[in-house]
Amino acid sequence: MNHEQERAKERIATELERSRRRSNGLTIDALDDEGLLAQHSPLMSPLVWDLAHIGNYEEQWLLRAAGGREALRPDIDGLYDAFENPRADRVTLPLLRPEEAREYNDRVRKEVLDALDSADLGIPEQRGEPDGRRSLLGAGFVFHMVIQHEHQHDETMLATHQLREGVPVLLEDTGAVAALRPPVEEEVYVPGGPFTMGADDDPWAYDNERPSREVVLDPYWIDTRPVTNAAYQRFMEDGGYRDHRWWTLEGWEWRERTGAAAPAFWSPEGDGWSRRRFGRQEMVPSEEPVQHVNFHEASAYAAWAGKRLPSEAEWEKAARFDPATGLSRRYPWGDEEPRPRHANLGQRKLGPSPAGRHPDGASPLGVQQLIGDVWEWTSTTFTGYPGFRAFPYREYSEVFFDQGYKVLRGGSWATHPTAVRSTFRNWDHAVRRQIFSGFRCARDGEPA
Ligand code: AVJ
Ligand code: FE
Repeated sequence: MNHEQERAKERIATELERSRRRSNGLTIDALDDEGLLAQHSPLMSPLVWDLAHIGNYEEQWLLRAAGGREALRPDIDGLYDAFENPRADRVTLPLLRPEEAREYNDRVRKEVLDALDSADLGIPEQRGEPDGRRSLLGAGFVFHMVIQHEHQHDETMLATHQLREGVPVLLEDTGAVAALRPPVEEEVYVPGGPFTMGADDDPWAYDNERPSREVVLDPYWIDTRPVTNAAYQRFMEDGGYRDHRWWTLEGWEWRERTGAAAPAFWSPEGDGWSRRRFGRQEMVPSEEPVQHVNFHEASAYAAWAGKRLPSEAEWEKAARFDPATGLSRRYPWGDEEPRPRHANLGQRKLGPSPAGRHPDGASPLGVQQLIGDVWEWTSTTFTGYPGFRAFPYREYSEVFFDQGYKVLRGGSWATHPTAVRSTFRNWDHAVRRQIFSGFRCARDGEPA
């Protein structure tokens, strides 16, 4: 076997191990059986469901679909099918107990590492074609899909931890802090014209990131950093939540129905605000990007500020386009894999970095913190790109197209580096705010 495949396999084995360490750290290493089996919020699954679902997905894709093996536990597939069982119902299912789930996951993983050893990850001629085992394995695609899937559930499990009541169990890693060099300008001008949006050959990209195409945008301005808690509090103090002028009809309906007056997990404290973060109560830090706001709150803030949310295409152009070459890159800083100096990713700490950190992760136009810290709401409804083809299954994204889901971009502090890039697309309901979501603003316009 050639060296390139050898190295690709080592990387896959390392990433599989990393994701499992995180999954176990958020489940069986963190909570007792009661905490794992409980439903902490109707929005979320019991953590033990996520745990066995991760193993079941890995078995289905790596052992059965790509490896041609028989089911290890044909009896449990139905339990861990996300479409058969809405999140709110999962607590009522005869789920594997935590110890059983771990044994099942270990058994799957052992066979996966054997299968990886003998797999041919050569690049097939027609990548992206739904033509069976060869294209699943080509360039490691299906392994990358499974690694990203586990990390996506790790982020979902963190949202469950954030909603959970009770004593804190997650430890804060107070490791290295990136440099602080706030951008000089509050916003930058992005010249009109074409850029390449989407991915083609990226062996980590999902079907919904493909195919790439040239998109021509009008000029616009975009904020150099995400909206901070301090800025958001000015909106609140100015009566933003009480003034329907800033809200869409749907947004105002949400506000009236819920009575929301602040981001999720905030409470008034003296003259200011405190927040609950993984079971600890603390003052809201003014320079951190605001998180736990939904699409409606983000849109209302933007309207109040005399701006708007960027479209998905505007966000991606700001995050990839290099005006010097006219080319699109994998990340704002170039094609180099994310490191801590570039972006706050991977749950190294349990929250965003203050706005102005990670100057080394800035785009050529000087836009900071596009990757990591908080998912950023865009104005775009989730749909397929022209020429979209579902691969390898419709239920990852196609069934969510054109259903009113809003696109979020850039990943959060809780997103693993392998599970985000400047082409990565996330989506959620406009009302959701248990996710690690924030935003930045944009506006139309000519150069200053
Ligand atoms: C891409 C984050 C919207 O969590 O619903 C996990 C990812 N898909 N298992 C989700 C996913 C199947 C998905 N998001
Ligand atoms: Fe899943």
